[in-house]
Amino acid sequence: MTVDTIQDLFEHGLEDIYHAEHQLLDALADLQEHTEREEIAQAFSEHREETRGQIQRLEEVFEIFGEPPEKEECEGIEGLIQEYEEFTSEDPSQDVLDYHNMAAAEKTEHYEIAAYGNLIPLADQLGMDEGADLLEENLREEQDALEELKELTEEFEIDAIPAE
Ligand SMILES: [Fe+2]
Repeated sequence: MTVDTIQDLFEHGLEDIYHAEHQLLDALADLQEHTEREEIAQAFSEHREETRGQIQRLEEVFEIFGEPPEKEECEGIEGLIQEYEEFTSEDPSQDVLDYHNMAAAEKTEHYEIAAYGNLIPLADQLGMDEGADLLEENLREEQDALEELKELTEEFEIDAIPAE
């Protein structure tokens, strides 16, 4: 696929985030499973449910755009998942892992926030008001999820992790 027009750019970005949301559906289940602290695990579980809704909204955006939903390999999120797996293979303690899980999730939120933030003006430019609103809803959920994770990170007792 050549990427020369606003339509191409929008389609490419939409397919990328569509794939990213699917990858995150699995990744959030993993994070939840490997987190001991209830409040943090709960945040992953809630955001996973939201992610299902985000995927549905993206499918509506594809429909408005007039193309079937397709995934473009999202190497950004793939890279973050790989980085996460490398860290967990070093056998961290549970407290370290709980903290790192939040950090990893926050990185994905930043990626998603940037992706939605870039797609919305393109949707506006293409006259897709309803599509822009749907993307805006996803963006707001990602921003709220990031805020919640940041609060949980700040509340985490770092003292629980021993210093060398
Ligand atoms: Fe998401």
